[in-house]
Amino acid sequence: MNYRHAYHAGNFADVLKHAVLLALIEALKHKPAPFCVVDTHAGSGCYALDGSEAGKTGEYKDGIARLLFPDLVGTSHEPLPPLLRRWLDAILALPGNEQGLKVYPGSPLQAAQAMRDTDSAQLCELHPEEAVRLRELFHHDARVHVHARNGYEALKALLPPREKRGLVLIDPPYEAQEAEYRLIEQALKEALQRWPGGIYAIWYPIKRRSQVQPFLRWLTHCGAKRVLRAELLVHGDDSPLRLNGSGMAIVNAPWQLDETLREPLRAMARLLTQERPAEWKLDWLVTESNGAPAKPARLPPTPRRR
Ligand SMILES: C[S@@+](CC[C@H](N)C(=O)[O-])C[C@H]1O[C@@H](n2cnc3c(N)ncnc32)[C@H](O)[C@@H]1O
Repeated sequence: MNYRHAYHAGNFADVLKHAVLLALIEALKHKPAPFCVVDTHAGSGCYALDGSEAGKTGEYKDGIARLLFPDLVGTSHEPLPPLLRRWLDAILALPGNEQGLKVYPGSPLQAAQAMRDTDSAQLCELHPEEAVRLRELFHHDARVHVHARNGYEALKALLPPREKRGLVLIDPPYEAQEAEYRLIEQALKEALQRWPGGIYAIWYPIKRRSQVQPFLRWLTHCGAKRVLRAELLVHGDDSPLRLNGSGMAIVNAPWQLDETLREPLRAMARLLTQERPAEWKLDWLVTESNGAPAKPARLPPTPRRR
């Protein structure tokens, strides 16, 4: 339990994760019926970018700051796709950001900001200090419930939610390295039994490509009828020593989510490029077309470790 998201708040991986989160919440809002957002690994909910942690690493400078100030990285003045524009505007509208970007909201705060009065959120955070901060942040918001407990285990009690519609964000710190994927698979397997119709969005790091491939392969056979994968890679995917990119796997992805994410991903790749052009991927790992059986994608075999 050494991981603190404050060191990474607003980095290029958060940009992808949180833009996808907004797209999912906006898709849920297409229907008037209330929905529930379950965040299994919530963090503390809000981060000061000039604080001792984020200020020390400055990771947000190669993340959200590049979308706000494209001039700084010499990228062209193309307007942002509407999803990214709405995402940035929501962040800039937060208290604390009146004079410019000073605070970065975590997934719980971004979700709460996008939700309606009738929707609800269940937030799990295992680290005691982070959980205390999270609880303080939402103590006035009756829609939001904070659980200081293991998010994987909590799913057994929280699913299916009362609303019977909604989304589960699974965003662990991967301190257990590849073993984390096995925990996710087990939790997802049980969650899909309890709530087959829920949307599940799983964030994953890309260091060495071979580390994530077995999980993506597992997803192709998890029983869901639609699984979308969105990835953004800012470095080559062959170094285990740094975060080269990240992905979001979306189980039971809403209809046309791929179309919603295509231009935002293209723009992210343009704006978040570092020493070599960033690459992005957006494809269905499992699709269901016209009532035909789900069709798993053919993934390349896992490369051997060097
Ligand atoms: C990557 S951060 C979450 C960031 C947050 N989802 C966001 O996007 O702003 C992961 C968090 O999970 C917490 N954590 C680690 N293991 C956990 C577990 N089994 N259950 C719940 N929280 C856990 C860590 O303390 C950390 O705050």
